[in-house]
Amino acid sequence: MKEICVGIIGFGTVGRGLAETLRIQQERLEARIGATIRLKTVADIACKSLPEEFAGVTLTQNATDIFTDPEIDIVVELIGGIEPAKTFLLQAIENGKHVITANKALLSTHGKEIFEAAVAKNVEVGFEASVGGGIPVIKALKEGLVANRINSIKGIMNGTANYILSQMTEHGTPFAEVLKEAQELGFAEADPTYDVEGVDTAHKLAILMTIAYGLNVNIDHINIEGISSIEPVDIDIAREFGFAIKLLAISNNHGDNVEARVHPTMVPHSHMLATIGGAFNGIHFNGDTVTDVLLYGPGAGMMPTGSAVAADVADIARNILSDSVNRVPALSYQPERMTAPVITPMS
Ligand code: HSE
Repeated sequence: MKEICVGIIGFGTVGRGLAETLRIQQERLEARIGATIRLKTVADIACKSLPEEFAGVTLTQNATDIFTDPEIDIVVELIGGIEPAKTFLLQAIENGKHVITANKALLSTHGKEIFEAAVAKNVEVGFEASVGGGIPVIKALKEGLVANRINSIKGIMNGTANYILSQMTEHGTPFAEVLKEAQELGFAEADPTYDVEGVDTAHKLAILMTIAYGLNVNIDHINIEGISSIEPVDIDIAREFGFAIKLLAISNNHGDNVEARVHPTMVPHSHMLATIGGAFNGIHFNGDTVTDVLLYGPGAGMMPTGSAVAADVADIARNILSDSVNRVPALSYQPERMTAPVITPMS
């Protein structure tokens, strides 16, 4: 059976989740893909040794060892941030590797450059884990909803913020204490400001808008307000009036312009998004053919995110076997009528 080799750059929460997923699901993946997926090398500057269950995997501190290894087919970048993640991805692409990243900050600011480099080298970029944690939202939008004009995208896209709001609502736990818990549980970003100030949600919305509308959207096009000023009293008053406070990403496609915003929102208790608790995400699309689709699931955490990255590995592995490159109009920039996003002020 053909062997497809993977190298992971960054062995933090998501890197470990991917390695564990590939190990635990090895037989299942082999049967479903028709190839053996072998984790060959892990690069991490801080990791001194790998757990014993990864005895056959090489550990290096030098990412170059991965993208210059002729045996490695797929390079997975899981270090986060802009640099050196961007340079590593571009170098891997330049060396003809297929790449996978969960890096929403990078894709929402430099996605165009990365995708154009990949097209030029005829390699794939997998980014399922960049939005929605374990929810297969990118695949749903790119493939399942491909025969739709997307009219709107709305949802809870940050597990940490939702966890904080849920804990404050259910237990009255103070903001700072819940944030610490979210960090310990591995939901929060290295800099949790991105989670609580809505920036991470905006990165994710930009990626979804780019796929849905064919626009090169970045977060400068999005009005952003976070949850750091929400106090227990706000939550109590909202509840008294029949609302939950949720950090929502909202985008409406008006045809000749699109609207994009991220802010705490009063959601009626009768609405499905109001019922989503913990670090779960709920992402709603309205498409002209399908009407309404709501995807729900774990939006953060080691194993759910590992599951999403492993799905990209499987997709790319299948395409390697069939000698095809899947460039389902992920970021093909083909707006129907729009030439640039027009910011509609928050009302
Ligand atoms: N910090 C992110 C969140 C991780 O809490 O949603 C998943 O993207």
